[in-house]
Amino acid sequence: MTLTRRALLSATLAFVLSATLALPPCDRDDEDCRDSRMHPDLPALPQGRAELRKYDGEDTNDYWLDQGKEFIKMKFAETLNTKKAKNVILFLGDGMGVTTHSAARNLIGGEEKYFSFEKFPYTGLSKTYSIDRTVPDSANTATAYLCGVKAMYGTIGLSGGVEREDCNATLSAQNQVFSIAKWAMDAGKSAGVVTTTRITHASPAGVYAHIAERDWEDDSEVKASCGAETQVQDIAYQLIHGEVGSKLSLMMGGGKRHFVDSKLYANGTRSDGRNLIDEYQKLSAKNAFVESRTELNNLNLEEVERVLGIFSDTHLKYHLETDANSLQPTLEEMTRKAIEFLSRNEKGYFIFIEGGRIDTAHHDTYARLALDETVEFSKAVAAARELTSEDDTLIVVTADHSHSFSYSGYPYRGNYIFGRAPATPVDSKPYMTLSYANGPSYETFYDTVNKVRRDPTTIITGDIHDEFPATAPLDYETHGGDDVAVFALGPWSHLFTGVYEQNTIPHMMAYSSCLSDGLTSCSSSNA
Ligand SMILES: *[C@@H]1O[C@H](CO)[C@@H](O)[C@H](O)[C@H]1NC(C)=O
Ligand SMILES: *[C@@H]1O[C@H](CO)[C@@H](O)[C@H](O)[C@H]1NC(C)=O
Ligand SMILES: [Zn+2]
Repeated sequence: MTLTRRALLSATLAFVLSATLALPPCDRDDEDCRDSRMHPDLPALPQGRAELRKYDGEDTNDYWLDQGKEFIKMKFAETLNTKKAKNVILFLGDGMGVTTHSAARNLIGGEEKYFSFEKFPYTGLSKTYSIDRTVPDSANTATAYLCGVKAMYGTIGLSGGVEREDCNATLSAQNQVFSIAKWAMDAGKSAGVVTTTRITHASPAGVYAHIAERDWEDDSEVKASCGAETQVQDIAYQLIHGEVGSKLSLMMGGGKRHFVDSKLYANGTRSDGRNLIDEYQKLSAKNAFVESRTELNNLNLEEVERVLGIFSDTHLKYHLETDANSLQPTLEEMTRKAIEFLSRNEKGYFIFIEGGRIDTAHHDTYARLALDETVEFSKAVAAARELTSEDDTLIVVTADHSHSFSYSGYPYRGNYIFGRAPATPVDSKPYMTLSYANGPSYETFYDTVNKVRRDPTTIITGDIHDEFPATAPLDYETHGGDDVAVFALGPWSHLFTGVYEQNTIPHMMAYSSCLSDGLTSCSSSNA
């Protein structure tokens, strides 16, 4: 295309867009027209902060040349850490795909900022598909990144041949696969699990449960599927009495309802007459139970051997739904307490820490909540880094799977990320920077009677529970099948580079920590 023609086209575009009209579509054979529309020079939106944006030297070559040199210098300063990892901390941002943490940078100052984990020296990509699905769930992925084998969608801690909801297969011990928490405990280390969801939810259950259906969180749910006489043990029961659960030193999250019979506790959903929390406390006088942030803060860790913290009937509240006086601890607070507690074991520990509500927020198309939970997750990772040493602690940060979450539309630097992007759809209504391929918000944004899109800027008002547009109507927004990032720091963190299957992760963690129960054992150089 000639310069004149491009300039003319830009001017036309600018004029047309300022009148909030879209251009007629290009002729399919007009390559030049099509090219120019694919990457249009769109005018800034008054609502954006684009006019205010100072580029702070970014508009000079020196800025980028220096930045490039600094990065290389930093790489040269790194030495391969081949020490033995006494401690391993696995952080999981549930549903934290790359679009999620990239977009969330906007909340910490802009695209140029980094989350705590994005500063880790080694990164890789994890392929998340399950044996039977291209797009996986949190159950089979937990089996992969904790137990080291891929599994069927919806199943936890069971080998790949077991189909979802197979009651009998759940009962067969030979189908069980164990998590790195057990490998660590077998080596004399302590292990723990921390989450912002119900502690019986799929990801944390991967630490300690073996079950063919992620929804079997209590006995009522198991009986509904497997019959009243079934021997299948529900997830809450497995946490308190299971082979792995009963040995965990620290367990924190929500989900009280699954631990207590409805006759003993109004919000309880069990039907076997049990109060598993009481049973846990009766096992030992040194088994501490806490239900609030105050109780957690006041807990004298010197006096207890195990800690169970259950802070809600179901998932913990979103961080933005709480305030400074909340009775619910933050993920960072739980992380600090957990590391302080588990550090007492001289042989070290394994801990799984989940920011679990990034995922639930996305399922409801609550983009504000999803991105804020990502910020909270990063604070917890920063706390773990501060409390540990790269000399003896491997920290791995990853996600189980992505979401159908999109970050697009050519927004200007300094844009208000929850606002509209300059891209102008052919219906001349605003386009939001953040949206989803599917989800419950479809009818909020699409007038199905008149068959027109509503103006999303009249719907998204600034509320924390704002829904964001979804292209197809689904009850809940779905996961995505794209690879997720893995960030590693500490002993053998360089192993985590490359593109690999998700189930490789616990083997690399086991290698760094010399856990012989892992499928990969240490070489003599690392012994
Ligand atoms: C499950 O096991 C029981 C007891 O062995 C047997 O009676 C039943 O037929 C099995 N069910 C299935 C679906 O295989
Ligand atoms: C039971 O659930 C309701 C609704 O979530 C809540 O308001 C109430 O406090 C709960 N009861 C107890 C005893 O926690
Ligand atoms: Zn999910």
